[in-house]
Amino acid sequence: MDSQIFSQDVCVIGGGGHVGLPFALICADSGLRTVIYDVDRNRVEQIRAGVMPFCEEGAEEMLTRVLASGRLVVEDQPCLISSCRFLVMIIGTPVDEHLNPTFGAIDRALRAAREHLRDGQVLILRSTVFPGTSQRIQRFLDAAGLRIQVACCPERVAQGHSLREFRELPQILSSFDDEALAAVRELFGRFARDFVEMTPAEAELCKLMTNAWRYIQFATVNQFYMLATAHGVDFERILHGCRHEYPRMAGMPGPGFAAGPCLVKDTMQLAAFSHNHFMLGHSAMLVNEGLPSHLIELARRDGDLAAATVGILGMAFKAESDDSRDSLAYKLRKLLVLEARQVLCTDPFVRDPGLVPLERVLAESDVLFVATPHAAYRRLPPITGKRVIDVWSCLQKPSLSQ
Ligand SMILES: NC(=O)c1ccc[n+]([C@@H]2O[C@H](COP(=O)([O-])OP(=O)(O)OC[C@H]3O[C@@H](n4cnc5c(N)ncnc54)[C@H](O)[C@@H]3O)[C@@H](O)[C@H]2O)c1
Repeated sequence: MDSQIFSQDVCVIGGGGHVGLPFALICADSGLRTVIYDVDRNRVEQIRAGVMPFCEEGAEEMLTRVLASGRLVVEDQPCLISSCRFLVMIIGTPVDEHLNPTFGAIDRALRAAREHLRDGQVLILRSTVFPGTSQRIQRFLDAAGLRIQVACCPERVAQGHSLREFRELPQILSSFDDEALAAVRELFGRFARDFVEMTPAEAELCKLMTNAWRYIQFATVNQFYMLATAHGVDFERILHGCRHEYPRMAGMPGPGFAAGPCLVKDTMQLAAFSHNHFMLGHSAMLVNEGLPSHLIELARRDGDLAAATVGILGMAFKAESDDSRDSLAYKLRKLLVLEARQVLCTDPFVRDPGLVPLERVLAESDVLFVATPHAAYRRLPPITGKRVIDVWSCLQKPSLSQ
């Protein structure tokens, strides 16, 4: 790395976040002098103290190691940006309440960093961005008279498994400039082995299409589930029939909540890019977002919910995670609150003062919904004497004699 001009190798802007922090850790652990810059002061203090702010496999040990090595510096001010050769931007890129893409966060971050930007730096966009963002930022930097090259290298890891996947997954690399692309290849080569090089426009779409593809696949199987269960047919048995020793269906996912901070918002970014002609994307959203109310409809078949205490197992958006951002479990709760006598929710990982212990949910609920298939629920003994709605087929089933 260019140690002559820059005293640090990498600054991860948004480095306290769910993907920014693991990325900063892998950089520092690979020998790179790494700076985390994050505006969230609490997060910064936690990280400095060696505490992971969220669940991430293997991260706590790595954090301890890189802090002790002196290769990781954690800041809530942008002052160290000017010392870093590579600026890796991994801040949130949400859609707004009308599901339109928002551009403000990246623009604000760049403006805040403006006085610390220096010629010769490479700005790597690792956030998932609306198509055309890389080009727009390159133009902004050129117009400001800065010799900074933009690269777009979207993140594709699954939250919770980042540290393993950084080393295993091919990295998508792109830049408008060949020299910058070579520098980025060298940077990622510190921990990754396989690269796919493309143009920034291709890289932006590749990431969005990957997430939209997964979201549509989940919607397809969720719609099959709704079709079957609406007619009283056991979908689990159908799924087994579809997949069993039949390689063409091997990749078929099971039904469940398709939620979280990425899939729906990236599908909606693609929908906006298509000027709202991305019919499959919109349909997928209607199906996936409609699943909670379908499950309530199934529960209602065996009796009114008005007098019932309803329990929800799992509030995180996916198994073994503490992340409840955009979790459909909360949508399920909102709908149930309207019609049940009481709704009790539990989760072994999510920190939310409104949650209660699992034992209480199991003891007091007349009806149980499994919203997140945490491993702890798979280990529960079969539940009898209650209505159970388990879209994931996560719980053990009572034997016929029970
Ligand atoms: N979460 C995932 O599994 C995942 C996977 C792949 C890609 N992505 C993409 O990565 C990006 C980040 O997602 P995330 O889940 O890590 O978000 P996050 O909200 O967990 O993290 C973003 C971090 O950026 C910080 N931040 C915001 N504005 C800042 C600024 N101006 N300067 C410095 N720091 C700032 C926030 O304080 C926060 O800590 C998004 O574009 C997302 O789509 C996420």
